[in-house]
Amino acid sequence: MKVFVLNGPNLGRLGKREPAVYGTVTHDDLAGMCTDIGKELGLDVEVRQTDHEGELVGWLHEAADEGSPVVLNAGAWTHYSIAVRDAAAQLSAPLIELHISNVHKREQFRHHSVLSDVATGVIAGLGVDGYRLALLWMAGNAA
Ligand code: DQA
Repeated sequence: MKVFVLNGPNLGRLGKREPAVYGTVTHDDLAGMCTDIGKELGLDVEVRQTDHEGELVGWLHEAADEGSPVVLNAGAWTHYSIAVRDAAAQLSAPLIELHISNVHKREQFRHHSVLSDVATGVIAGLGVDGYRLALLWMAGNAA
């Protein structure tokens, strides 16, 4: 089964970006970790990152057309992008909204997500391990 892991703006800077909040693992490391765990779980994991909203919308359309599950860290778009939400709402397979940090412990503007009510579930605050857990859940539930 194919699973998309889609990361939004500034996540390509993992490792350099606010390491006290997001840790020191780079996006390349994260992508490798996701594809490796995917192999162990029998999943074909495709990891992508973009700083361009329309590109993410297009990838969500691709996942919707394929019926593929998605692990989505939409970064800041989580909090205000109705375009990303509307694209996510078109998915038929499970969607896991993911945040590396615990957004609920942070600034007020991070407490609201426009995605959560169209997501199957939400993982926040478990660092990059959240991706591992999301893929484990997909392997057991998204067939
Ligand atoms: C984030 C949390 C968002 O508030 C922030 O804008 C990000 C990353 C996280 O993974 O913790 O870019 O989604």
